[in-house]
Amino acid sequence: MKRIAVLTGGGDAPGLNAVIRAVTKTAINGYGCEVLGIVDGYDGFIAPGGVLPLDLESVRGILPRGGTILGTANRGNPFARKVMQAGKEVVIDVSNEIIQAIAALNLDAVIVIGGDGTLRVGMELCDKGVPVIGVPKTIDNDVGGTEVTFGFDTALMIATEALDRLHTTAEAHHRVMVLELMGREAGFIALHSGVSGGADVILIPEIPFKYEAILQKIRQRAQAGSKFSLLAVSEGARPLGGQELIARFGDAVYVPRLGGIGQEVGRYIEEHGFEARVTVLGHLQRGGSPTAFDRWLATRYGAAAVRTAAAGVFGRMVALRDGKVIDIPLSQALAVPKRVDLDSDAVRTARGIGIFFGDE
Ligand code: F6P
Repeated sequence: MKRIAVLTGGGDAPGLNAVIRAVTKTAINGYGCEVLGIVDGYDGFIAPGGVLPLDLESVRGILPRGGTILGTANRGNPFARKVMQAGKEVVIDVSNEIIQAIAALNLDAVIVIGGDGTLRVGMELCDKGVPVIGVPKTIDNDVGGTEVTFGFDTALMIATEALDRLHTTAEAHHRVMVLELMGREAGFIALHSGVSGGADVILIPEIPFKYEAILQKIRQRAQAGSKFSLLAVSEGARPLGGQELIARFGDAVYVPRLGGIGQEVGRYIEEHGFEARVTVLGHLQRGGSPTAFDRWLATRYGAAAVRTAAAGVFGRMVALRDGKVIDIPLSQALAVPKRVDLDSDAVRTARGIGIFFGDE
């Protein structure tokens, strides 16, 4: 293995720099290998100045830093790129250009750090001969085949702290506090932080809710003497028989942006006699320094990705199973997106301690 490249794609997640650092150090120290950093996702392969040499000096001090020193793009799908042609917006496929650029760089491996979108592009490029290894990233924790993605733990810490802070002000004012959390179609952030932050109601996409049932729960709490309630609401949560709320519709390039359900739930509660306030935690969940767990996982993933590349097996993704980092086929990881298992101990524990999911 003489030369590898590493890139970050999709929305950022705390721990990206820790992976870049681990990849660079493992490749240089363990294999005497040259490392190239690709700027702003796959686009960097064909953009001017998009390929940077990475050495031990370039990754010094980045372990605790949020974001990514390489930059990222969530419109970086080379199979569907939006461009202006003759004054009109059109979607074109630039994957052949990318594949040629990769071939010209004589790369022994391309390590792709991303969520399902970026990993899927990696798999398609691999099918066309590019030696790809994937590293699963996302605060949403929705990539299949792995118990956890890096970034998730940091998002949980931030969401839990937000719930703790909302808890005290809710109690002081006898209010209902609603916290809208990220996660797309997966409810992991709301479920785990809701349990850790003592939420009374958790709404997740996997369990459609009934507005009246939430109100009933808040009423029961008030009658029992708890004049405040705390709600952790996934951005993808939806009422029974209804749809998730879209803040911006998707197209061939953008995935739809979710948002607004927190406001809807808050409005309903206020209209029915309880004072409510809504907080949308948004991108605070993705920014800043990774937790120790995310640094540890990201470092292990980065090092394992280089070892997998050195073994010459491609089209693989590193994954955590039973506490061990292994590698699995990208196709297996991407076959089914991970969702909250309704029979899991996480859901049963939440129900067991009296947390309400709005579904009864
Ligand atoms: O997938 C990560 C995520 O933060 C989702 O939880 C959220 O829906 C989305 O990205 C937001 O994307 P953007 O950064 O484009 O607003």
